[in-house]
Amino acid sequence: MQPNMTWDVKEFTRAAEVTVDELAAYVDQSQRGTAPVLRRRPPRELADELELARWISEGGMTPDDFRRFLGVYLREGTRLHHSAYLGHQSAVPDFPAALADFVHGATNNPMAIYEMGASAATVEFEVVRWMLAKVGFGAGGGGVLTHGGSLANLTAMLAARAAAAPDAWTEGVPRDLVLLAAPSAHYSITRAAAILGLGERAVVPLEVDGLGRIDAARLPAVLDGVRRSGRRPMALVAGACATGTGLYDDLRAIGEFCAVNDVWYHVDGAHGASALLSDAHRHLLDGIELADSVIWDAHKMLRTSSLAAAVLVRREPDLDAAFQQQASYLFYGDQGFDLAGRAVECTKAELGLKIFLNLAWRGERGMGEYVARQYETAHRFWELARNRPGFEFPYEPESNIVCFRYGTADQAAIRERLMDDGTFHLTSAEIGGVRHLRVTVMAPATDDRTLDSLLHHVTTLPSA
Ligand SMILES: Cc1ncc(COP(=O)(O)O)c(C=O)c1O
Repeated sequence: MQPNMTWDVKEFTRAAEVTVDELAAYVDQSQRGTAPVLRRRPPRELADELELARWISEGGMTPDDFRRFLGVYLREGTRLHHSAYLGHQSAVPDFPAALADFVHGATNNPMAIYEMGASAATVEFEVVRWMLAKVGFGAGGGGVLTHGGSLANLTAMLAARAAAAPDAWTEGVPRDLVLLAAPSAHYSITRAAAILGLGERAVVPLEVDGLGRIDAARLPAVLDGVRRSGRRPMALVAGACATGTGLYDDLRAIGEFCAVNDVWYHVDGAHGASALLSDAHRHLLDGIELADSVIWDAHKMLRTSSLAAAVLVRREPDLDAAFQQQASYLFYGDQGFDLAGRAVECTKAELGLKIFLNLAWRGERGMGEYVARQYETAHRFWELARNRPGFEFPYEPESNIVCFRYGTADQAAIRERLMDDGTFHLTSAEIGGVRHLRVTVMAPATDDRTLDSLLHHVTTLPSA
């Protein structure tokens, strides 16, 4: 007898109910802080407890088995909804975006080709149009959603390369092209230079202040040096905001410099472009509209799961020029509404739906209030701690990222201790070559009590 491979929709419904029950309990526990923010068991031990090898070889999982499995799986993972989650810049997903992931998981409409998902593609068009308007690109702008900020940066750099060297796609990269970026730029920029064939050495470091922000007054000297050495700038990259410090570059001054000097201006707004939605913080992005290209991650501050990012350009044809491709099964005649021609990916998830549903539920205003609240909470941490003995803050935070040092002990060791006992998840970063603790306020559950508790834990660690 042929095995039946179609869905048993009753079993699906039962399994989905189990999933909702378990996830609801998990988020509830996480938000209330009644379980550790993370656990750090070694993979071998976890694989055994989850019985991974047995499930893989034997199959046969039922909804009840799944409940047991999911319970352990969630318990042993990292709880981003937890108030003590102050770690990496991954979004604490809002539930409408989670629903979108579920819909995508069931329908799988890979909409980079319009015929593979008209609704999904149409939602993406509208979300991109909304993002373009927020950035301040006029009707001539264009964009596409990508699986993450690194791909979005790569795509923007491809567009810049096509503008500087239109034959590069077929002839290879001219040796004189360089990329101007601060050492504080996200590593995906240097990677893009290497992937594009410019090579890492083609990234000319911009001069920065002691906190890694681009020194706009020194740009003429850098550009002059580049041009006098016979090289051509392909693009200049500014940060909004920098990954390590959460500080914004002076986007207007840099943009005006690029406009006058005919240099492609790229703004990496992966983390900080969402502040465009906050009345109190929009000023940090003043001048972003001068950019030729911008990236903006939704899976950081727009509360979607990983990955969903946008690459946006001021002139739509620039994005279409980024790629050339031949594939007779896909590309022939008029491409109509297909997005595949302007993205690295051929198959693309229904990324727009996650962003759209968050907007549809919370509204643009609600999303802006979230960003404002997170930025204000980081500021509050700085206010609470800056005058306490032993704490050093190199700057007043501008976003929801704040770096500090406590005492003279190894800061990385402080982080490890807090993570080992599951009390806090935080990160660290170097500023001027010195390691700092780094807090990123992502969870809506993080409040003053959390901040007090963090200060208490940091100051009472045995050898801190
Ligand atoms: C400023 C900045 N740009 C780009 C990226 C890369 O984005 P992704 O992790 O989505 O690839 C990050 C990630 O942290 C970032 O902070």
